[in-house]
Amino acid sequence: MRKNLISIGLLSCLLWSCTSSTSAPDDDAATGATTTSSAASTAQTSGTSASAGGGAGGSDAGGSGSTSAGGGETNEGGGGGTDSATSGGTGGAGAGGEGTGGMPDEGPKNLAEKYASLFPIGAAVDSQSYMTHAALLKAHFNSITAENEMKFESLQRNENSFTYDAADRIVNFAVTNKMKVRGHALVWHSQNPAWLFSNGSGGTVSRQTLLTRMKNHISNVVRHFRGKVYAWDVVNEAMMEDGSYRTGNLADGQRSRWHEILGESYIAEAFKAAHEADPDAKLYYNDFYNYIPAKQQGIYNMLKGLLDQGVPVHGVGLQAHLNIEPSTVTTNQAVHQNVANMGKAIELYSSLGLDVQVTELDISLYIPGVTYNQSTFYTTATFTDALKAKQAARYREFFELFRKHKSVITGVTFWGIADDNTWLSEFSSGRKDFPLLFDGNHNPKPAYDAVVGF
Ligand code: XIL
Repeated sequence: MRKNLISIGLLSCLLWSCTSSTSAPDDDAATGATTTSSAASTAQTSGTSASAGGGAGGSDAGGSGSTSAGGGETNEGGGGGTDSATSGGTGGAGAGGEGTGGMPDEGPKNLAEKYASLFPIGAAVDSQSYMTHAALLKAHFNSITAENEMKFESLQRNENSFTYDAADRIVNFAVTNKMKVRGHALVWHSQNPAWLFSNGSGGTVSRQTLLTRMKNHISNVVRHFRGKVYAWDVVNEAMMEDGSYRTGNLADGQRSRWHEILGESYIAEAFKAAHEADPDAKLYYNDFYNYIPAKQQGIYNMLKGLLDQGVPVHGVGLQAHLNIEPSTVTTNQAVHQNVANMGKAIELYSSLGLDVQVTELDISLYIPGVTYNQSTFYTTATFTDALKAKQAARYREFFELFRKHKSVITGVTFWGIADDNTWLSEFSSGRKDFPLLFDGNHNPKPAYDAVVGF
């Protein structure tokens, strides 16, 4: 049911995803091939539905196993393991044991315990996965983000009618299991209900009305979760790869109607409203492609401007949808995707006195700039040991960076729990990905060992 809810937004998201996530959805959907993310973004432009439907679409699926938008695509299947693995997967929980080498008999510490003195370890969950993957969650994670359930279209599908049930169930699970909750996301160009930017008679909403709607949403939502959600992604994806603002002059799904109607001041207004609603909440600006020098500088400038004006911003979220290796195509944004550049972003943002969190980590097997098709899509069979080792090495180098910056990093969250439920496997093309630490049967992968092996 909520699938449908989200599916609409998905379309837009889709577009978006291409843009945003490196790995993501390059929207290959249409061609069935993956391209470059940036290319994707362009491509998506019109092909919207095509890819869209499929592409990101699936994402919402999250764990729900449902499929959503993509209609017909199962998000399961991908990893081979399905939720049925759940129970078996329980083993996964304890499975933390494997591979951590050198640890005493009682077995290695689980993921969150291993990082307890460094930062919380989170996972994005959906309305099903917090149950189907509960064993893994309880064993390895101490923080949760709702993958879609706290987005605008999920919480206020109709004006002034707030629907908190799905999000509340996730929050209650977290509270019961003593996990932190990150709120995601209050103001974003994607996954918004149609009424939000409409004046009700076929035209665009006025500036004043949109500002009122935005503040009303933030106030209602942040107050609802006050005391339970400790940090919010207040504004998501407001900047472009070249360091300029995301404006209204972009393709559907990519454009920011917030910026188009309110101008850049919507960002400051959003943070102020969130702070007023919960003065104790940590307020984050969240975005992707932080490793691109021009983009990280643009985000830095924007944040510095906000802080200089006294706007209550407390931290920066690095989405970190990464790929198994950087692109070799010089015109592809992912050519910049390396540890050194990510390190520079962390240093730059923290030099402003801001906390940094990794908010949506996953490492796709697909390389931006390479074209894939049905015959080269990865499957459980072609996700070879060599590839697993390569993915593990990539995870290792990024976690070394995160640990090095433990004094400013206040959380690392994966965008999913196990490979049987990832937004990267929800293209209509049927392309599956294996981007997380646990496999489709909920057992730890070499990537898991790499992350806890220090
Ligand atoms: C994605 C979800 O994972 C999908 O289920 C949904 O269909 C689209 O959105 N950046 C973000 C997240 O900030 O909200 C996106 O989540 C992934 C990229």
